[in-house]
Amino acid sequence: MVEPIRRSTREEREEWIKYANYNLFNLHSNQVFIDLLTDSGTGAMSDKQWSEMMIGDESYAGSSSYYKLKHAIKDITGFDYFLPTHQGRAAENVLFSTLVKEGDIVPGNSHFDTTKAHIEFRKAHALDCTIDEAFDTTLDHPFKGNINLDKLEKVLIDNPKEKIPLIIVTVTCNSSGGQPVSMKNMREVSELAKKHDIPVYYDSARFAENAYFIKIREKGYSDINIRDIVKEMFSYADGMTMSSKKDAIVNMGGFIGLRHKDIFDRASVYNILFEGFITYGGMSGRDMNALAQGLYDGTEFDYLETRIDQVAFLGQLLKEAGIPVQYPFGGHAIFVDAKRFLPNIPKEEYIAQTLAVELYLEGGVRGVEIGSIMADRDPETGLNRYPDLELMRLAIPRRTYTNDHMKYIAASLINVYERRSKITKGLRIVKEAPILRHFTVELERV
Ligand SMILES: Cc1ncc(COP(=O)(O)O)c(C=O)c1O
Repeated sequence: MVEPIRRSTREEREEWIKYANYNLFNLHSNQVFIDLLTDSGTGAMSDKQWSEMMIGDESYAGSSSYYKLKHAIKDITGFDYFLPTHQGRAAENVLFSTLVKEGDIVPGNSHFDTTKAHIEFRKAHALDCTIDEAFDTTLDHPFKGNINLDKLEKVLIDNPKEKIPLIIVTVTCNSSGGQPVSMKNMREVSELAKKHDIPVYYDSARFAENAYFIKIREKGYSDINIRDIVKEMFSYADGMTMSSKKDAIVNMGGFIGLRHKDIFDRASVYNILFEGFITYGGMSGRDMNALAQGLYDGTEFDYLETRIDQVAFLGQLLKEAGIPVQYPFGGHAIFVDAKRFLPNIPKEEYIAQTLAVELYLEGGVRGVEIGSIMADRDPETGLNRYPDLELMRLAIPRRTYTNDHMKYIAASLINVYERRSKITKGLRIVKEAPILRHFTVELERV
């Protein structure tokens, strides 16, 4: 299927972004020429997925679509139990309602914003045990998504076991730049967790891209096929949350995969409460069918190679122009190091957001801030948090744009880079929500 996209003038974009309060989430999609806001739910479904949509079973309970999805999840991930949810954060809501309570500590490699928010909403602490190499965007490290095992072990030793309900490994790690976790690291995290008797869950939105990087970069995996790598990855976990809108290439959907029946039974109560009966959980039968097929589409080597090469194609064009980007390139997006791109903007004026606004004005390209606005305020002190990395993410939808679009995006960002010394003022917040503020924040120019 083909969708038209619309060009606009700089004058129009000046007016639209002002009206949107300098928040790119507030733009209408027809005010955007190339939309890199997210790779979530924005991919194009395949012919097989569309044909599956036609034969969805919409029975309230026990539909054949549910069983088709259950079979696909078992086949791809190895998990015996699963609960459907309408998207990834809903899976987090159900799982954390089951496992996390006030005062708990949840360590991980680097929690995604909705994961962190769901933990902090329960007055628990989300603790990042990121490897130091991930903070240096120039450093060539094959697995910047890895957990620092020393940091993790310290958390496990310093706190009572009852306070750590789970460890979360995000594959690939969105917050540190779509960076993969190695199989070795997953194995070691599992061993450490077993030693301390703490369960491990994967935030699995981009598990297939992670498997691709293992195949390409990790010793001993080049001859193993993607589906076997995926199986081994999940063999080190007790369960998973999934936003199916990424690597399962559907427009909406999610699920929880579980190894243990007792957790499944407890989580089922919250699934019924928040999502729907356990055999549909917020999804229609046709959506479950498309998702079941998408799990197979998304774990094809040829598809993954084409996708990740396209992301790298954009990354290479930017890198060759001298633009500071997280390196090696991530799986789903190119992350521009905004602090190095715009050194004249103080951190209090939201550097990555300023860069995203400039890119939109330049070429109608919509990226997203992964920086201090997204980091929210510290729930205890109420002060702004300034993460080490202040990034603008250019997320590439799956099976949607061509490499000519990549060239246009690169040209637009290069134009901004050439006039970067003239960009000296950023933005200030005029209105914000207490949690996940980046979605609705209102800003003005300083
Ligand atoms: C790593 C990760 N976890 C969880 C989520 C939340 O998923 P959803 O947007 O489907 O609620 C996302 C979404 O971008 C994500 O990237």
